[in-house]
Amino acid sequence: DYTSSMGSEFYRCKSCIFPGDIVKSGTLKKLESLELKHDDVIVASFPKSGTTWMQEIVYLIQTGLDFERAKKQVLETRFPYLEHPYPGLAAIKKAEGPRFIKTHLPLSLLPKSALENGTKVIYIARNPKDVAVSYYYFLRMATFVGYRGGMKDFVNKFIKGDVPYGPYFDHVLGYWKHHQNNSNSGSNLLWITYEDMHRDPEGCIRRVAHFLDRPLTDDQVRLIAAHTRFESMAGNPSVNYSHWDDLGLRNKNEAPFMRSGRVGDWRRSFDADTNRRFDDFIRQHLESSELKFDYLP
Ligand code: A3P
Repeated sequence: DYTSSMGSEFYRCKSCIFPGDIVKSGTLKKLESLELKHDDVIVASFPKSGTTWMQEIVYLIQTGLDFERAKKQVLETRFPYLEHPYPGLAAIKKAEGPRFIKTHLPLSLLPKSALENGTKVIYIARNPKDVAVSYYYFLRMATFVGYRGGMKDFVNKFIKGDVPYGPYFDHVLGYWKHHQNNSNSGSNLLWITYEDMHRDPEGCIRRVAHFLDRPLTDDQVRLIAAHTRFESMAGNPSVNYSHWDDLGLRNKNEAPFMRSGRVGDWRRSFDADTNRRFDDFIRQHLESSELKFDYLP
């Protein structure tokens, strides 16, 4: 019911904004009846929060550190994007054994079976200032969106919730509240932040492995941490999205997918006024919440 000024089509569906191809493919409807299983693993996030980083960590843990298998296919194929038409639900349904599923769906739109059947969900959250900056560069780079506005204009849209999967705080607080209400030891939702992953990558890898009931040796933790460092992933074609170049999905005049990989990069992009407005936006949404983010390294 809605077309944004982003440069391509978006639709508002159940108070979340979706890319046009997702809505048109009818996947959202089909997801309502999708049977997710106890041993499936979902990595969920608001876009640009460190999804790819977490996906590669989860993939390695679940496959017993099968680096060869991880190299053979791109992550998009190994770890399908639930609501996206490519590689689509068909790929998820066909997959054998514990399935890997990435999603940007808000918690309220996850297939009901995910929570009912105890599917493990790992939510990766990132401070909204860095998300906004990362998203700006991503939406300029992705030819299927081709955003052409400036940073200030984009931040306005982000604050208004007028970006794909927006509003940001509906998304993050939806998962956060579920996490808070179920934070007993048996919870099926693991909450982890991009900033935690930076501060203590090995500790976070251990937390994920523990959550997945696949404890690791210290050597294994070190191997995964080395493989998933920003520099390693940026140079690894199976996770750095360089295959988008061949598919015409990336505007090569814009930043690459593996762009900066830092905490606090917003400082190079926000002017004082933008930062003030952003701080107000954060205050409004987090005033009555225990959720706190780190904004600087
Ligand atoms: P920047 O644009 O700030 O560099 P997502 O996978 O959710 O789309 O998130 C992409 C963001 O995570 C990008 O942020 C990307 O550079 C960063 N990223 C990807 N892999 C990373 C890694 N191994 N370490 C740190 N940051 C990583």
